[in-house]
Amino acid sequence: MTTTKEFDDTALVCIQDYENRAKEVLPPPVFNWYMDYADEGQTMKDCKNAFKRYRLRPRVLRDVSNRQFSTTVLGHPVSFPICISPTAGQRFADIEGDKTTARAAETLNTIMIVSSSAFFTFEDISLAAPNAMLWFQIHLFKDQKVTRFYVKQAERAGFKAVVVTIDSPVLGNKRSMKRGFVAPREEYRLVNLYDPNNPEVRSAIANGDIALWDYWWEQMVNSETWEGIHWLRNITKLPIVVKGVLTGDSAREAVQAGVDAILVSAHGGRQLDGVPATIDALPEVVKAVKDSGVEVYMDGGVRQGTDVFKALALGARAVFLGRPIIWGLANDGENGVKKVLEIVRDEFSVTMALAGCSKLDDIKASMVIHESQYLSKL
Ligand SMILES: Cc1cc2nc3c(=O)[nH]c(=O)nc-3n(C[C@H](O)[C@H](O)[C@H](O)COP(=O)(O)O)c2cc1C
Repeated sequence: MTTTKEFDDTALVCIQDYENRAKEVLPPPVFNWYMDYADEGQTMKDCKNAFKRYRLRPRVLRDVSNRQFSTTVLGHPVSFPICISPTAGQRFADIEGDKTTARAAETLNTIMIVSSSAFFTFEDISLAAPNAMLWFQIHLFKDQKVTRFYVKQAERAGFKAVVVTIDSPVLGNKRSMKRGFVAPREEYRLVNLYDPNNPEVRSAIANGDIALWDYWWEQMVNSETWEGIHWLRNITKLPIVVKGVLTGDSAREAVQAGVDAILVSAHGGRQLDGVPATIDALPEVVKAVKDSGVEVYMDGGVRQGTDVFKALALGARAVFLGRPIIWGLANDGENGVKKVLEIVRDEFSVTMALAGCSKLDDIKASMVIHESQYLSKL
């Protein structure tokens, strides 16, 4: 048999390959910081493993020659239901960090959530990718002036939604931080905090970037409640997404607080260890908000097309990727991020075909069941 193509066992064909290569190319402290998790990492590992506990129930002999997976997320058209979660420190993987990721999101027409810890201003990021669909992530900072400043900057820069991370009143127990992970000082520029009218921020800047980082951390230790979401509702017309909901009770509170969407997230296992895998938490949240009009998304452990299929079948409108985007950045910048998204998209397309689905509406809850239902029949 003759082949025209050499077999290349170093080719990067799946997200695990990208992760393995990122481990080789990144300095160990940086890779470990990206990989890091709270405590023993039970939730971080479980988010990924839990997908494997669900089984697919394909339909066969359906015409799947023409598959369609473009959709809308909060009304924004996207080419596929796979978007980008906010991650801090993208600049450690690629010098242009968030700008590079935004360009990839723009080319592939998907949504990127920019972290409140981005090292570029919202304006710079949107200028780098003027047609990208950008959302921004914030916390309900202790000082409302800080939150308001973030929101107003992002509004001016044309961002289309505000994502409030609600699982981080304090930072989780991350061991790399305790081991003294320190990024190069030059990278510590949390530029979106630079409000010249805020005297505390001014003095933080005057004291140098490390002081600014400390200031940001201090802002995280807050006593905010759902009242903060009501307050936010009054200061911006942008849609509000809450990120970090894991229970039906919190989902109902979010609906009452007037949010537009919920991102089911365990923060990649970096906050409270021991919470359920997000794919396990998803159905409870979907059920709790049924008929409210609030969209539900999920992130955590999504690494392949079958994961996307399972999440959509269990009620997510879209999934978001955290670490895989960083692995793409670290390997090959914009091209790497695009490849990562394309790999998951193409695997999802094949999964749809093999499961007998030619459009997203064909993906039904009955096509995914938990393995325990098979085991209990033995
Ligand atoms: C290095 C790193 C930095 C992160 N920074 C933020 C952040 O600034 N804001 C936030 O809301 N979530 C942050 N997250 C959590 C992600 O948005 C997301 O919830 C999580 O990474 C999804 O899990 P996955 O990495 O398994 O895809 C971060 C995650 C990682 C790995």
